[in-house]
Amino acid sequence: MVVALDVATLDEARELAAALAGEVGWLKVGLELFTAYGPDAVRAVADHAPVFLDLKLHDIPTTVERAAARVADLGVGLLTVHASGGPVMVEAAVRGLGDGGEVLAVTVLTSMRDEDLAATGQPAAATQVPALARLAVEAGAPGLVCAPPDLVAVREAVGPSIRLVTPGVRPAGASADDQARVATPSGAVADGADLLVIGRPITRADDPVAAARAIAAELAGS
Ligand code: C5P
Repeated sequence: MVVALDVATLDEARELAAALAGEVGWLKVGLELFTAYGPDAVRAVADHAPVFLDLKLHDIPTTVERAAARVADLGVGLLTVHASGGPVMVEAAVRGLGDGGEVLAVTVLTSMRDEDLAATGQPAAATQVPALARLAVEAGAPGLVCAPPDLVAVREAVGPSIRLVTPGVRPAGASADDQARVATPSGAVADGADLLVIGRPITRADDPVAAARAIAAELAGS
């Protein structure tokens, strides 16, 4: 399990990281913390568990390669880029990160419904996600991020050796927040997820440790 540390301050991130390190395998630093604190956000939590740096890079290949090389210096385990940046950009990210971590290519965001995709001139998720997944894997990405409803098609498209990571995970009865395409933790694992990203259901809970334990218990029982 990955906990998304989407909080405003380093103190909150440190506190959550310290509390949750024994409960989750990964700590995800995303745009909120990284925009505010840069590499210090990674350093603040890295002593507690491996860091997943969710920057969702999407730029010209040279820029992405150079940014990924700087991420390699930080010692994170996972770095996200957008698969829609194209094969040359994904290859550049993999080259830039080198041995400094694993590139995860994001297919279509979990917040995007087909009507949102249509509004941006894009095909439906069912059409574009397997194509983006194949493209990213052929470009060298060892892992992918996709929404729960896309897991089965993505697994079929890329085979068993690719790490599939899914956000949009909500325990039964929890609020979906702004996520549109969601599943329960055990549903996502049953559909082939290797790693679940869970943010607000844990970090906004009255007792984040208890919330993480309840999710782990659901998974153990599934
Ligand atoms: O709070 P919640 O569980 O919705 O958090 C999900 C996390 O996963 C957020 O940090 C979000 O940025 C990230 N994410 C996502 N959809 C993707 C990739 C990453 O929701 N496709």
